[in-house]
Amino acid sequence: AGDPLLEVKSLFACVGSSTRSHLSSPHSLFIYAHHSLVHLMAFSITIWRSAHTTQPITVQLQTPFVPKSQDLDLNQGPDFQGAQYVYGKTLVPEVEGGPRPTVHMLWTPVPQTLTLRGEERERSWEFLMAVAESEEEAKRSYREGLALMAAGSLHSSHVHAWAMLWRGCCIDLDGPLPLRQALYGCLYYLLSAIPPRGNPGFLFHGISPGGLSNGTQGEDYWGHVFWDQDTWMFPNILLFYPEAARAILEYRIRTLEGALRNAQEQGYKGAKFPWESAATGREVCPEEIYGAQEIHVTGDVLMAFEQYYCTTQDQKLFREDGGWKLVDAVAQYWCSRMVWSEEEQCYHIKGVMPPDEYHYQVDNSVYTNAVAQRSLNFAADIARDFLIPVPEEWVDCAKKIKVPFDAEKKYHPEYDGYSPGEPVKQADVVLLGFPLMYPMSSEVRRNDLEMYEPITELDGPAMSWSMFAVGWLELKEVQRAQSQLNKCFSNITEPFKIWVENSDGSGAVNFLTGMGGFLQAVLFGYTGFRITRSSLRFNPALPNDINKLNVTGVSYFGNKLKFTIAKEEIRIKVIESHQDPLAPPLEAVLEESGQRFPLREGMVSSPGSAS
Ligand SMILES: *[C@@H]1O[C@H](CO)[C@@H](O)[C@H](O)[C@H]1NC(C)=O
Ligand SMILES: *[C@@H]1O[C@H](CO)[C@@H](O)[C@H](O)[C@H]1NC(C)=O
Ligand SMILES: *[C@@H]1O[C@H](CO)[C@@H](O)[C@H](O)[C@H]1NC(C)=O
Repeated sequence: AGDPLLEVKSLFACVGSSTRSHLSSPHSLFIYAHHSLVHLMAFSITIWRSAHTTQPITVQLQTPFVPKSQDLDLNQGPDFQGAQYVYGKTLVPEVEGGPRPTVHMLWTPVPQTLTLRGEERERSWEFLMAVAESEEEAKRSYREGLALMAAGSLHSSHVHAWAMLWRGCCIDLDGPLPLRQALYGCLYYLLSAIPPRGNPGFLFHGISPGGLSNGTQGEDYWGHVFWDQDTWMFPNILLFYPEAARAILEYRIRTLEGALRNAQEQGYKGAKFPWESAATGREVCPEEIYGAQEIHVTGDVLMAFEQYYCTTQDQKLFREDGGWKLVDAVAQYWCSRMVWSEEEQCYHIKGVMPPDEYHYQVDNSVYTNAVAQRSLNFAADIARDFLIPVPEEWVDCAKKIKVPFDAEKKYHPEYDGYSPGEPVKQADVVLLGFPLMYPMSSEVRRNDLEMYEPITELDGPAMSWSMFAVGWLELKEVQRAQSQLNKCFSNITEPFKIWVENSDGSGAVNFLTGMGGFLQAVLFGYTGFRITRSSLRFNPALPNDINKLNVTGVSYFGNKLKFTIAKEEIRIKVIESHQDPLAPPLEAVLEESGQRFPLREGMVSSPGSAS
């Protein structure tokens, strides 16, 4: 077998194709983050003989990995069950005097050689790495990994865990293959990033636009969390996995202290979520302007709480687990952020940067003001549900906040003084229709789409087009929707369907925000799902090249539903029910006729069609 050299680039890096040629025997390499043992990475090498030879085959391994880091103060600990062990703290706290998180890491040492003996035809070697915040957790994970390895089921248990997760949610359609593949790819990557199920006590730290940061200075936004999580990714997760959605909200609750400080530092009351969030909720954006001005994020966070409340009725999150305190603090923030205009007799929010980051220091960003209004309405609603007196101020500010509207042209200007045709970086005003569901006629909805679609930057971030698609689907302009949706495809990178943030390849990779928008275009666009206080509305519209859409595992009030949408028929099946017996029975209602279809476990109802 010559003298093959197998270079394991870092402890768990895959071997590049250039080194592959050194191996004269067939081999395979696996690397995966174990899906049920969430602190574990696994790596395996398999070597097998292709020819009828009997001499031993020896493979040399090299690893440049050294347990050193410029960010961590690492110490070596005693070996543990054959694993090497280091632990330490981050060198620099996120904020002065703040906590310095710890990390504990165990890994299987990499031998210098692996030998397939003369009598062996094939053999695999498995390597583990456990990383956790506590020594106990890291060691427990490593031990469990070893036990699975000994039982020969390390990889199969990973595959099984994925299969279980996948069973609970599926989007499948009878339509173009690239679209189906893109959907599967997006779901896979998004589900890879959500809080693990069945891991009580696991502290979730939010989802960054590129998932985990790639480690290089500033790459993938350092792994920071933006509105991308709450507005773009969250609704998809909520629809299938409310427990995971809850863990995302708990992350925001855990960082409320930081948000309170942010507001105070800027001279306001209540809580202001940071533009870029990490462990503490203090602003960690490297450029001041975003933290100071792109304040819509605070309303975006609250909208995720609202959607969660409307689909789960989980009052415990609000009453016992800190949710109400957050809602209350956000409402206070918005009230203190508004100023009364004597001239216009309404409240203004001045000096902001809208989602369209080409503009800053503008007054009355229509999206920002509408999301603030929505926060206040939700805060008041939930207070009423909990029999808490609603502060007069909340009602007043919600009622009297300015939401810019051009009565002559019948469209929403992006901010005070916006002139039509001014280029826009990304989806902004179009978000009023969805996800905000700001009330407007279909004429105005259409005008907003027509106004902003041609001037939205083609090179802007990948999620914009999905929201135009949702808008056109709402208006039943299915082909216009499809041409917007197709723009999402041009930048999916083969063979692993990786998304880039911007069409020039810059920005975060693998861009979960874009995937989140794309999934919403299907999950909320084709189906017409809208989460409201009283119901989960649906109003499907399928483009010509899609005959059928199945959405399995939609979670609503403790039920799991399957929607089968075809041009001639819609079917709804209750596949699982853990509904509160005191809650009103589930039914599908046709709005126009008022006809009601009861939904019970195992039953299929067929209340209409998608034409
Ligand atoms: C959708 O579900 C139906 C009924 O379960 C099934 O017959 C059909 O093959 C599915 N279609 C797609 C595209 O997955
Ligand atoms: C991290 O980002 C840098 C700069 O874009 C890139 O060169 C590098 O390949 C990335 N690393 C990984 C592991 O993706
Ligand atoms: C993204 O797609 C556009 C339009 O097809 C193309 O011009 C551009 O080169 C693509 N960018 C990347 C990074 O693939």
